[in-house]
Amino acid sequence: MQRSVIIDCDPGVDDCIALLAALGAPEQIDLRAICVVAGNVPVDTCARNARGVLALAGREDIPVYSGCDRPMQVDPVFAEHIHGASGLGDAKLPESTVTPATLGAVDYLCETLGQAEPASITLVITGPMTNFATALQRDPNIVEAVREVVIMGGASVEGGNITPHAEFNIFADPDAAAIVLASACPTVLIGLDATLQIRCTPPRMSELEASSHPACHAAAEMIAHVNRIYGEVYGAEGAALHDPCTIGYLLAPELYDLVSVSAKVDCSGGERRGQTVITPAQSSGLQWVTGLRDGPLFDLLVRHMERV
Ligand code: BDR
Ligand code: CA
Repeated sequence: MQRSVIIDCDPGVDDCIALLAALGAPEQIDLRAICVVAGNVPVDTCARNARGVLALAGREDIPVYSGCDRPMQVDPVFAEHIHGASGLGDAKLPESTVTPATLGAVDYLCETLGQAEPASITLVITGPMTNFATALQRDPNIVEAVREVVIMGGASVEGGNITPHAEFNIFADPDAAAIVLASACPTVLIGLDATLQIRCTPPRMSELEASSHPACHAAAEMIAHVNRIYGEVYGAEGAALHDPCTIGYLLAPELYDLVSVSAKVDCSGGERRGQTVITPAQSSGLQWVTGLRDGPLFDLLVRHMERV
C-alpha cells in the first residue's frame, strides 16, 4: 500500500542515498515533500543537496522546504569531517533550476499535518529533529495526522559515534529529540545498534561502481569519501548506511527486529549530552530496532536506486 511520506533530513551522504532509494519506490512511497534542517552541513547546503538529488532523479516536482538553521537550545555542531564540506563526499549533483520554495519547513509541517486526515502521513526523519519538534511545540494537535514517524537516531549497546555516549542526530539537538520521542506519535527509532550492521564493504562498493544507473553511480562517489574517513577515523572497513535504513523499513519491515521501549534523552549538556537510554517497555508507542538483515536490505536499496 502506498504511504504519503515527508522526509525531514540533513543531506549528507547517507541522507541523499535514503532520498534516492525513496524516489525509486513510487508505488510504495508518495514523497510529498523534503524538509531540510541544519545538521551534517548548514541548512542552505542541505537544501541545495536535496534539490540536487531531485534534479538527478528528474523529480523537481517535489518541493524542498528549508527549516531550522540551528538547534533549539544547544550550539550547532556539523559533521563536515565525515560528509565533506559540500555534504556530498566526492560527488557532484546537478544544480536545480527550479525556484526554491519560500515557505519554511516548520510552517509546511504545521500546515500540512494540520489539514491532513488522521493517521495519514508518515514522517521520516534522518537528521536532528529540530523541525518537527518546533512544529509540535507550535501546534501539538498535528500528532493526530501522523501515521508513523520513522527516525534514524540514537544508540544503546553501540554507545555513540560523535561522542562515546551519543549518536550524531540526537547529540546535535537533544532537546528536539526529547520532544519528538515523548510525543504521542507511533514511532520507530533506528539507531546505531542496527545501522552499523549495514556497511558499504568493498564488494558492495564494486557493485555500485559497476552500475550504469546514475543514482548508483552518484551513491558510489558519495560513499567513497565516507569510506576513506571511516577507514582513517574508525579503522572500519565500509561506512554504515545509517539513513537508508529508514526507507528500507518502509519498504520491507520484515527485515528488521523491533522491541517496544521507552527512550530517555540526556539533555543535561554534560559529557553524556545526547545519550539515549533505551529501556524495554510493554505496550509503548515507541519501537526500537535491535537488528536487521543487511544483505537483503542492501540489495533492496540498490534495486530501488536503479529505478531512479
Ligand atoms: C547520522 O548522523 C549523520 O551524520 C548521518 O547522516 C546520520 O543521519 C548517523 O549518526
Ligand atoms: Ca542524516
